[in-house]
Amino acid sequence: MTEALIIVLHPSRWGEAKALRLQALENDPLAFATSYEEALEYADEVWRTRTKAAFEREGAIALYAEVDGTLVGMAGAGWSDRRKTRHVAEVYAVYVKPNHRGKGIGAALVQGLLDELKALPQIEKVKLSVTGSNEAAVALYRRLGFEAVGNARRALKIDGRYYDLHYMELWLR
Ligand SMILES: CC(C)(COP(=O)(O)OP(=O)(O)OC[C@H]1O[C@@H](n2cnc3c(N)ncnc32)[C@H](O)[C@@H]1OP(=O)(O)O)[C@@H](O)C(=O)NCCC(=O)NCCS
Repeated sequence: MTEALIIVLHPSRWGEAKALRLQALENDPLAFATSYEEALEYADEVWRTRTKAAFEREGAIALYAEVDGTLVGMAGAGWSDRRKTRHVAEVYAVYVKPNHRGKGIGAALVQGLLDELKALPQIEKVKLSVTGSNEAAVALYRRLGFEAVGNARRALKIDGRYYDLHYMELWLR
């Protein structure tokens, strides 16, 4: 069990969502395809729109972990309404602040997303990609039922070094 509250963030708190995401990208660059430098350039309107879309479940959901009123973790999922791919959702932007790790918060966030996705009748499968060397994240996803389905070699290039991506999937129904 985790001490954190798992919440859907009200759009008025978009600034906190921005700060947490930027911290994630800066602290753990190997874990995400978006670079910190790229995200720093987003206009505030982008953060506002994303937080509102996730609140209204317009093609995305985001869950946040809150401890004593402060955001300490997040996880997102998105899907499209394109006919051929609308049965597939993708989990992304999973992050827990370093001093709150190992307490079940990441698992609670991702399980919360899976529960939300199960309630959407069109979604049958959830996919994600994770840097192959990210053992904590791979173990987290495995524990929640995701299975490895393949690798993309040298999919990320960060400061001149290449990283493979590991693809994982979970069938919801
Ligand atoms: C991956 C991450 C989200 C895990 O969050 P967390 O809150 O520490 O995870 P939890 O405490 O909920 O752990 C759940 C399970 O994940 C696995 N796990 C988590 N941390 C682990 C670690 N350091 N080593 C091995 N397994 C780990 C375990 O299976 C654990 O279950 P258990 O406690 O029953 O053994 C966190 O380490 C993080 O934010 N990392 C940086 C960003 C990142 O890698 N995001 C994922 C991008 S795909």
